[in-house]
Amino acid sequence: MKLEVVILAAGKGSRMSSSEPKVMHELGGRPMLEHVLLTAESLPCDKIHVVLGHGSEKVREYLSQRKTSICHNIVYQDRQLGTGHAVQQTLDQIDPSIQPDLFLVLYGDVPLITPETLLDLIDRNRESLSLVTLETDNPDGLGRIIRTDDGAIAAIVEDKDATDEQRLIGEINTGIMLAPTGKLREWVDALANDNSQAEYYLTDIVSHAVDQGFSVDSICTGDEFEVQGVNDKLQLCILERHFQMQEAQKILASGAKVMDPTRLDIRGELVHGANLTLDVNVILTGDVTIGNDVLVGPNSCISNTKIGSGVTILSGCVIEGAIIEDDVMIGPNARLRPGTILKNRSKIGNFVEVKNSVIGTGSKANHLAYIGDATIGDACNIGAGTIFCNYDGVDKHHTTLGDRVFVGSNCVLIAPVSIGDDAFIAAGSSVSKPVPNQNLAVGRSAQRNIEGWEKPKKEK
Ligand code: UD1
Ligand code: CA
Repeated sequence: MKLEVVILAAGKGSRMSSSEPKVMHELGGRPMLEHVLLTAESLPCDKIHVVLGHGSEKVREYLSQRKTSICHNIVYQDRQLGTGHAVQQTLDQIDPSIQPDLFLVLYGDVPLITPETLLDLIDRNRESLSLVTLETDNPDGLGRIIRTDDGAIAAIVEDKDATDEQRLIGEINTGIMLAPTGKLREWVDALANDNSQAEYYLTDIVSHAVDQGFSVDSICTGDEFEVQGVNDKLQLCILERHFQMQEAQKILASGAKVMDPTRLDIRGELVHGANLTLDVNVILTGDVTIGNDVLVGPNSCISNTKIGSGVTILSGCVIEGAIIEDDVMIGPNARLRPGTILKNRSKIGNFVEVKNSVIGTGSKANHLAYIGDATIGDACNIGAGTIFCNYDGVDKHHTTLGDRVFVGSNCVLIAPVSIGDDAFIAAGSSVSKPVPNQNLAVGRSAQRNIEGWEKPKKEK
């Protein structure tokens, strides 16, 4: 049985009040369309068609960067004349002699549909037109499922075209449909747009099918969020909170301690070991990998970072694109920028910023420092207020420290410069020349004291 999928994603999404194409709005750090694509790609299907229209350039660029093993076909719907028209445009691109047996319609703005529901729909399909419906207390704005007295599906009526009596119906159309491709082609070709929105509604194929005596069946999902469409920012927000609660539950189920699941945001992929504690207001973005026995303190944002075991991250840290080895202490209020590598047992304290630098095993920068473009050996100490001057206004330069280097407080290391093993930099030094091994570098003006100095007095 050959199956192809179409994802409708051409609509403007006017109710989002945004210049961004609707399907590119993010849920859990990924465009809504990405969620639908991942679900579609997990199905036994041969091809995925994506119908683009509004903002198609941006979506096309996004699609071109994705890695996938399933064949994608982009369909341009220049004028968005309705969901039925979108499906018709797609089928027009498929040669009837090689068309799939079944065609599944998904919506780019219904992001949380699960593979389980769709597999159920596919497994149960007996050459019929199959719908996914939902019983809800809040059917406003959605297509209503009209059933005959014996319970058979007769039609779908859009909210805007429904009578007051039909609006009382609580069973709604989720938009998701599975149909034999040949029949679907015939039905969408016969659609008219004589309705309140002058659109070719895909939903009108249901009454066509019924009129032909064709079997129409449905599965009713019990999960409102799974089939929730996003038409405005409030709906996106509600779905985001639901999604985040699901993510928190997954982490809790795997044994992690989450101080407050309503105050955790996972905007990407988290892989973690045993004994993880996430305090409140932690935001994890992109690919974050965490080893065993790790504490992430409150208000910390971590993105695309690999964290080893036994690591403690105190409150208020911002960490991006870093590699953190084992038994490292960070924060509070530290900032690690891309290219930072913290070796085992190193320590980065409060108000320290590190960029594109390696901090050696057991080395420490405990307070108020900027370390940029540096390689720091093992067991070094970087004093409070030390600045690695890496930028001359045009180019960036590198600083190298050997092992066991002690940099006193308030030093300025002017790159390019290198400092040998066991060197000692006196506090308040400005260092621009190499310092050999075991040397003491004093790069500051000698102190002079003025004897008998008198305090200035205010003139009357
Ligand atoms: C649609 C259904 C409605 C269902 C609801 C569920 C129709 C006519 N109505 O209404 O029965 O209850 O979804 O969420 O199908 N799109 C295109 N091209 C177009 C028009 C729309 O690609 O010409 C895409 C949109 O980008 C969107 C999807 O189709 O992803 C649904 O369109 P939308 O306008 O949001 O339909 P609803 O009013 O939500
Ligand atoms: Ca919608």
